[in-house]
Amino acid sequence: MKKIISVVGARPNFMKVAPLHKAFQKYKDSVQHLICHTGQHYDENMSRIFFEDLELPKPDFYLGIGSGSHAIQTAGIMIEFEKILLTENPDLVIVVGDVNSTIACTLTASKLHIKTAHVEAGLRSFDRDMPEEINRILTDQISDLLFITEQSGITNLKKEGITADKVFFVGNVMIDSLKTYLPKATKSNILKNLSLKPQNYVLMTMHRPSNVDSLEQLKDLVHLMNSLSDKRKLIFPIHPRTKKNLEDHSLLKSINQKVILSEPIGYLDFLSLLQQSELVITDSGGIQEETTYLGIQCITTRTTTERPITVEIGTNHLVGDSYRKAENTAMEILNGKKKTGKIPELWDGNSADRITKVIVDKL
Ligand code: UD1
Repeated sequence: MKKIISVVGARPNFMKVAPLHKAFQKYKDSVQHLICHTGQHYDENMSRIFFEDLELPKPDFYLGIGSGSHAIQTAGIMIEFEKILLTENPDLVIVVGDVNSTIACTLTASKLHIKTAHVEAGLRSFDRDMPEEINRILTDQISDLLFITEQSGITNLKKEGITADKVFFVGNVMIDSLKTYLPKATKSNILKNLSLKPQNYVLMTMHRPSNVDSLEQLKDLVHLMNSLSDKRKLIFPIHPRTKKNLEDHSLLKSINQKVILSEPIGYLDFLSLLQQSELVITDSGGIQEETTYLGIQCITTRTTTERPITVEIGTNHLVGDSYRKAENTAMEILNGKKKTGKIPELWDGNSADRITKVIVDKL
């Protein structure tokens, strides 16, 4: 019997590990698949609701790390994860995405000579000011198996000297979750509860330090929200960081009453909101991919994207970090200037099957 531990830590990890956990059930006679939650995200609506929505079992290990500076968070995860690895001695550790939990657990495992697999490897924004870019580069350098979502990943890893025998183009495991749960999401009452009509509202999320930490940007963000809310209903589930910054600068009260502000929203309700929106404005990584799959117009308020396929063939508009530019593009889109997109190669809902097959063959 082989033992595998998959790591989840932050909100965007849960929908990537859920399909892997299901796919491993096919091999349950030969593989024991365990889940370790670092506790990087811990709020009810940033973590627990995702386990419920995605039908994930209670994690086998919970490290309870919580928030802190990058060093405190990363080091805290390493110290606690090492204890688990020493007791459990797994044959493989699987990490997903690019959050602090990803690099912390990869580094811990590799120093103990435990093999690691990185799901969603090879993505690069080429902006080393982003903490996620550092996490991506370092995780890929020390991982043994690298699973790629789009062709750019293969090119990037080759340039960084990673040999082709470690790299597997398998598609996007997050789309596996999306396809699985879309039928359930259509039963959500969220639109009714918020008095929204399909294809007649804008959905916004914003949480990256580079987008929500300075007063100047926050003022521009509020201006964007107010201006859009004159044209369409606008729903903005607020990430804790963004909420705190708006509160600290006393800007919450400057937001137009028409804007629907909510707490972070669970997976199924959010999927329902995404699928039926006219336009999404975001700085998230995953939402760029989900909108491309769904053919929904997406404005990304960043200067770079590590997911170039969403711009090249998808419905993503990369407008830079100026909220004024985002406003212009949003108005154009709401006036009908829409991009037609295509679904990227292998984003077909079967990525977890491909990944587990490779892993079982290699173990
Ligand atoms: C992390 C990831 C980011 C991802 C995002 C999704 C890193 C470096 N960043 O950023 O790539 O896009 O998750 O949300 O790993 N907080 C709470 N409750 C929680 C979690 C966080 O209130 O359950 C607050 C805390 O004030 C905390 C802040 O949010 O200090 C930031 O949390 P943190 O985990 O450091 O990073 P995120 O900004 O969420």
